Amino acid sequence: MLADNYILIGFMGSGKSSVGKKLAEKLGYDFKDTDEMIVESEGVEIDEIFLKYGEELFRNLESTLLLSIVGTLKTTVLSTGGGMPLRGQNVNLLRLMGRVIYLQASMETIIDRLSGDNTRPLLKGENPRDKVEKLLAERTPIYKRSADTIIDTDGKTIDDIVREILGGYNLR
Ligand code: S3P
Repeated sequence: MLADNYILIGFMGSGKSSVGKKLAEKLGYDFKDTDEMIVESEGVEIDEIFLKYGEELFRNLESTLLLSIVGTLKTTVLSTGGGMPLRGQNVNLLRLMGRVIYLQASMETIIDRLSGDNTRPLLKGENPRDKVEKLLAERTPIYKRSADTIIDTDGKTIDDIVREILGGYNLR
C-alpha cells in the first residue's frame, strides 16, 4: 500500500532533499522540507538562527512546526532536518504523519557529500570530520529506532533509492 505521506529522516548529507524531491515527483505528491519551511516562516536562514539565537531555539521552531502541520499533511513527501528525531515528541508526531524512512549513509559518504558545504552550522569550525563522527555515533541509534524503514544509501543513485522506497510499486 502506498503511504499518504513519506517522512524522510537522516543525517545531514544523507540525500533527504534530493531523494524526497524525486520520490514526490514519481508519486505526484507535494514535497516539503522542514528547514525550508522554517526559513520561510522566520525570514532568517538556518545558520543565522543558530548563530543569533542558538540551537535550542531552532529545536523549538522545529517542534512547533511539526505540531502546526501534523493534522494537515496529505500526499506529501516531507524531508526533515537532521536533528528532528532528537526529541521524542517530534518522533511521535512524525510517525503519526506517515511512513518514516531513515536514509542511512556511512561516515565516508557523508563527509564526501558535505565537503565544501558551509551551510551546516553544527559542522562549522575546526575538525568537521570529528564532529560528523561524534554526532553520527550519538544519532544513529535514534534514527534507527525512529524509522519504519531503513534504506542504506551508500553507492546508490537517487533513482535506486526511490525505487527501493517504493518497493513493488512501479509508477510510470
Ligand atoms: C541539522 C541539520 C540541518 C539543519 C540544521 C541542523 C542537524 O538539516 O536542520 O543545520 O542537527 O543535523 P539537513 O539535515 O537538511 O542538513
